[in-house]
Amino acid sequence: MKLAIIVGSLRAESYNKHLAQAIAGRLDTSDEVAWVSADVPLFDADLEPDDIPASVQRAVDQINWSDAVLFISPEYNRSFSGVIKNLIDWLSRESVGYPLDEKIGAVAGATPSGIGTAVMQSHLRPVLAHIGMDLVPLPELFVSVPSRMSEDGELTDRTAESVDLTISRLRDKIAARK
Ligand SMILES: Cc1cc2nc3c(=O)[nH]c(=O)nc-3n(C[C@H](O)[C@H](O)[C@H](O)COP(=O)(O)O)c2cc1C
Repeated sequence: MKLAIIVGSLRAESYNKHLAQAIAGRLDTSDEVAWVSADVPLFDADLEPDDIPASVQRAVDQINWSDAVLFISPEYNRSFSGVIKNLIDWLSRESVGYPLDEKIGAVAGATPSGIGTAVMQSHLRPVLAHIGMDLVPLPELFVSVPSRMSEDGELTDRTAESVDLTISRLRDKIAARK
C-alpha cells in the first residue's frame, strides 16, 4: 500500500505526529509512506490556476501517488485544526484536479483529553465525504494521551489493535478496486 499521511499539528513534539509515526511503524515493510506537509500557504483563489504554491503542488502529487490518505488531526475548539482545513480547501479545487475525489482514506487524532478527538472527527468526516473521499468508517481511532498512547507515542495494545484493523480495512478497500 502507498499511504499518504497528513498531520494537522505543526508542533515539534506533537502527539499527533507521534501517533502518525506509530501508525506508520505498524505498516508492512513493503508498504510506502508519503509524509504530506500541511504547512502550506493560506488558500487564495487569486493564485489559481497558474500560481499554485510549490508546497501545495507537492501535496497534490503525493496524494495522486498514494492508494490511500490518512488524516491525523488534533482537536482544536471541538473541531479539526486550521492547518488541516486550509490544506483540504486547496485539495478540494478544480485547479489542482480534485485529488481527494474518490480517494480511499481514514481519520485519526490524539489529545490529552478523555474524548480522544471524537468531536473533531465528527466534523472532519463529513467535510472529507463532501469532497468525495471514501473513508473507512470503523474502527474510530480516538487516541487519548496517556490512556491510549504515551506522551512519546507508544500505543497501548488496544490502540494498536484498532490501528491494525484500520490498516487492514484500507487494504480491503484498495483491493476491492483492483
Ligand atoms: C487552540 C486550541 C484548542 C484546543 N481545543 C481542544 C478541544 O476542543 N478538545 C481537546 O480535546 N483538546 C483541545 N486542545 C488541546 C489539544 O488537544 C492539545 O494541545 C494537543 O496536544 C494538540 O495536539 P498536538 O500535540 O498534536 O499538537 C486545544 C488546544 C489548542 C491549542
